[in-house]
Amino acid sequence: MNDLAPLLTPEGRALLDEVRGTAPADELAVATRLRREHPAELVSAALGQARLRQRAVAKFGAEDADRMFFTPNGVEQSTRASVASYRAERLKALGVTSLADLCCGIGGDAIALARAGIRVLAVDRDPLTAAAARANADALGLADLVEVREADVTEVDTAGYDAVFVDPARRGGRGRVFDPEAYSPPLSWAIEAARGAPHAALKVAPGIPHEAVPEDAEAEWISDGGDVKEAVLWFGTAPGTVRATLLPGPRTLLGRGLPDPQVRSVGRYLYEPDGAVIRAHLVAEVAEDLGGGLIDATIAYVTADELRPTPYATAYEITDRLPFNVKKLKALLREREVGILTVKKRGSAVEPEELRKKVKPSGPNSATVFLTRVAGAPTMLIGAPA
Ligand SMILES: C[S@@+](CC[C@H](N)C(=O)[O-])C[C@H]1O[C@@H](n2cnc3c(N)ncnc32)[C@H](O)[C@@H]1O
Repeated sequence: MNDLAPLLTPEGRALLDEVRGTAPADELAVATRLRREHPAELVSAALGQARLRQRAVAKFGAEDADRMFFTPNGVEQSTRASVASYRAERLKALGVTSLADLCCGIGGDAIALARAGIRVLAVDRDPLTAAAARANADALGLADLVEVREADVTEVDTAGYDAVFVDPARRGGRGRVFDPEAYSPPLSWAIEAARGAPHAALKVAPGIPHEAVPEDAEAEWISDGGDVKEAVLWFGTAPGTVRATLLPGPRTLLGRGLPDPQVRSVGRYLYEPDGAVIRAHLVAEVAEDLGGGLIDATIAYVTADELRPTPYATAYEITDRLPFNVKKLKALLREREVGILTVKKRGSAVEPEELRKKVKPSGPNSATVFLTRVAGAPTMLIGAPA
């Protein structure tokens, strides 16, 4: 069904309530029963929506996801609530009270912005997506703060708004789009739109090359629960600043413009920096704070002699260091009675699952093995979380 309207009628809403939480295995039986009383098309639309809501729980939580409306692309492309509300709070702290959300999708960001008390003009050119955004503002009691407009963002006048937020579509017909100029709208358009507003935030892929960050922007990489979610180009904040923000928290590490960290010998501790720190190129800042250095010029593992608490990296105590050799690893793990083996790798082509099959861990103890390079040589570092 290419239209949300039938699901928003009393009959559609009643059906949505009825199919809530239907397990995939029960769908056929539920559909057969409901089709006796309701149009087949409406029944399948309701079941489809129930499925999308289940997928959306991870991003929006069950309470919101169960009331919201989605399109398949809309679920996929929407910002998760944790990240959207972090950004919304930052905008609010900048004094933003009204904002044009250009490329609003089903409204992941618009919802968080409205909940932060910001008045939002939410624009999307796709009719079904815009309808979902409108239905979501309604369903969550935010309709007074969110005006949804079905339009091409390049034709929208944003004068009079305190801020502009752009989250361009990054998935083309064949998977993800990496070239920022292939975004819809292109990044260069979004940058110009940002420059025309007192404040702006542009959501971009975390893999954006640092060279593509304009000089008048601040760049922030955000991770949630250790997974890098996005990068944001901020305008009207602190040009040239680079930061890594970790959620939940937030904990923010600011770049200090340090040169690449020194390489040093492997010490007692190995630190695995958070992905946002690595993407933001702030490993040197973490190394300095830990009094450490890199194990290899090309590998983002920091080594140090001391254990210092930091939110920006996970610490491991290293017990053994061996040249890469599966037989030796197998022997060592047998001797230590390691049955629970965590395999981490950076700078190694070895597949962790393959390795696990070969060494057949067994026993009551656990260990972590890092497959990496130390001063250019394939190396295994064995240890445990400190
Ligand atoms: C990444 S999604 C936005 C997700 C949204 N921030 C959220 O959290 O739900 C990008 C959206 O941009 C829309 N879009 C792409 N180009 C557009 C244009 N020129 N004008 C308006 N909308 C556009 C797409 O329809 C898509 O819904």
